[in-house]
Amino acid sequence: RPLPVIAVDGPSGVGKGTLCSRLARSLGWHLLDSGAIYRALALKIIKDALVDADEDDWIQAATELDLHFEVDADRGTRIMLDGENVTARLRSEQCAKVASQVAPVAAVRTALLHRQQAFLKPPGLVADGRDMGTVVFKNAPLKLFLTASATIRAERRYKQLQSAGVDVKIRDLLKDIEARDQRDSGRAVAPLVPADDAIVIDTGDLSIDKVYELAMQLVHDNL
Ligand code: C5P
Repeated sequence: RPLPVIAVDGPSGVGKGTLCSRLARSLGWHLLDSGAIYRALALKIIKDALVDADEDDWIQAATELDLHFEVDADRGTRIMLDGENVTARLRSEQCAKVASQVAPVAAVRTALLHRQQAFLKPPGLVADGRDMGTVVFKNAPLKLFLTASATIRAERRYKQLQSAGVDVKIRDLLKDIEARDQRDSGRAVAPLVPADDAIVIDTGDLSIDKVYELAMQLVHDNL
C-alpha cells in the first residue's frame, strides 16, 4: 500500500498553511511547506546578490541549496539555510516575491522536486503548495484545492498583520496578491491549477474551523 498523501494547493493567502498544519498535527503525519523551500531559495538568491543574475545561477543555487527543516514538536519547525535559522525571514514579502520570480524556471523546479518528495515518510504526509496535486504528488489519493477571491485573501492578511502590530495598506496587500496570482497561474511550467481529480473548496464564506472540518471529513471518507 502506498503511503498516504493529502495534496493541498491554492493561491497565496487562502489559508492552506493553517489548514495543513492542523491536519498534520491531528493525523500525526509529516508536513511539507513547499512554499518555504521556494522562499529559502529566494533568500539564498537575495543573499548572494543573484536576483538579476542568469537563470543558470538560480538553477545552481537550487541544486546546491543547503536547507534543513528541524522539526521540534514543542518549539515548532526551524528552517535552517546555510546553518542559520531563517524561519522568520522567509515570511517577508520580498522572499515571496523573488520566490515567484524564480519558480517559473523549469530546471529550478526540477532541482527542488526530490527534496519535496523526500518528505513523504510513514505514516503519511500533508503537502502544501501550488503543484502538489499536479506534479510533486500526482498520485495523491486526496487532493484539495482551496480558493477565495483576492479581495477576501487581502482582507484576511490585513487582519492578521494588524493584530501582529504590522502597519500596512490593504490596497498594497491586494496589489501584491494579484501580482503573485498572475505569476503563479500564468506560468507555463506547473501553473497554479486544480488537478483533474482535486476537490475544490471555496473558502470565501467559510471559517478556518469549517474548512478544517470539511477537510477532515474528506480524509475519513477517502483515506
Ligand atoms: O506558498 P508560499 O506563498 O510560501 O509560496 C511562495 C511562492 O513560491 C509562490 O508564490 C510560488 O511562486 C512559489 N511556489 C511554487 N510552487 C510551490 C510552492 C510555492 O511555485 N509548490
